[in-house]
Amino acid sequence: MRDAGLLPVEVTPRVHWIGALDPKMRTFDVILKTPNGTTYNAYLVRGSAGLAVIDTVKEECAEQFFARLEAVASYEDIKVIVLNHLEPDHSGALPELMRRAVNAKLYISEAAPLMLKALLNDTAIAYIPVTTNDTVSLGDRTLRFLNTPYLHWPDTQCTFLEEDGVLFSGDVFGCHYCDEQLFNDRAGDFHFSFEYYYAHIMRPFKQHVLQALDLIEPLHITLIAPTHGPILRDHPRDYVARYRELSTPRLHMDSGRGDKTMLIFYISSYRNTTHMAEAIRDGAAEVGGFRISLYDLEGGEVEPFVDLVEDADAILVGSPTINGDAVKPVWDLLSSFAKISVKGKVAGAFGSYGWSGEAVRMIEDRLRGLKMRVPAGGLRIKLIPSEEELESCRDYGRDIGSFLMGRPRARDIDMSQLSID
Ligand code: FEO
Repeated sequence: MRDAGLLPVEVTPRVHWIGALDPKMRTFDVILKTPNGTTYNAYLVRGSAGLAVIDTVKEECAEQFFARLEAVASYEDIKVIVLNHLEPDHSGALPELMRRAVNAKLYISEAAPLMLKALLNDTAIAYIPVTTNDTVSLGDRTLRFLNTPYLHWPDTQCTFLEEDGVLFSGDVFGCHYCDEQLFNDRAGDFHFSFEYYYAHIMRPFKQHVLQALDLIEPLHITLIAPTHGPILRDHPRDYVARYRELSTPRLHMDSGRGDKTMLIFYISSYRNTTHMAEAIRDGAAEVGGFRISLYDLEGGEVEPFVDLVEDADAILVGSPTINGDAVKPVWDLLSSFAKISVKGKVAGAFGSYGWSGEAVRMIEDRLRGLKMRVPAGGLRIKLIPSEEELESCRDYGRDIGSFLMGRPRARDIDMSQLSID
């Protein structure tokens, strides 16, 4: 007799949930907290001319997936398999599904084939690449594809079941929250998980989120079926609106002026790096046309700065060299940049040092590693800056400010250091 816990769940008369529950999962992708576990949501769609399976599950959970699938479908009736995203938590059961569903064709995004072959270690696997507005018919039901790359891999797409208004959104609008009740109007309060998931998975790709929302918002959505967490059938558009809100630049909305901004972060043992930061600020201010903020990292908490950095146009980081390294709050700040997109922002490094002065170069390496633009070589000053050295700080500020405003002072720009790609 089948375990009652492995039954599929009706989502709409034409859609069943056939995913897997993973309540014991405590961390995801090594760093994400999953205190409620997670789910790998997969769906079966029934059309008059055949069935479609949308996404699969992690390989370790394949038994749940196949048990639920077999309870609601026969393999020979499956005509379509859609993988909206190939990360192993959704593609793990795909090879076995394709072995069993011999009449099915696999539909993936145009960016997915390389990953498909690499992940499944199978160069012979057949697939049909699709993009925005391509459709596949199941008779009286139609699947329409939306190309939504980088949410959060290059391959990601969404699939819309037109006649029923169901958006199979992949990781988008998902969260790591395991609740057998499955639906957002019955599950526990997953607000924290939804926001946490966005912050860690989608936030670095805000521009791509906005592009995806331009495709999603015009749809007549009645229900959102993501690959993780509760199925969003109660006020699904609220979640779309929340993504729009979270992805829209705040600072420019707040000022209403669209000013460019420069942030100067520093930390200082004997105020030498502080004096450098202030002189750089003064020099940059002479250029004008952008807002400048100075932040002392003493105290070590960097999380409040992440929002500012995300919206800023230029970021300068100053640190003394202690034991041949930049100090921990500086590394914590630079580490936090991985949560957001800083690619292309103007950047620079500076600092006072006692005898070796490695910190500035190390910070610069990190900034370039993040694909920020570093238009002028970092500024290092031994111990207490003299008046002449403070003038070099002001000049450094003028250089960075001029570059930010699109008027680079050619004499000081080190073109070999530019790191856009
Ligand atoms: Fe849920 Fe990006 O995999």
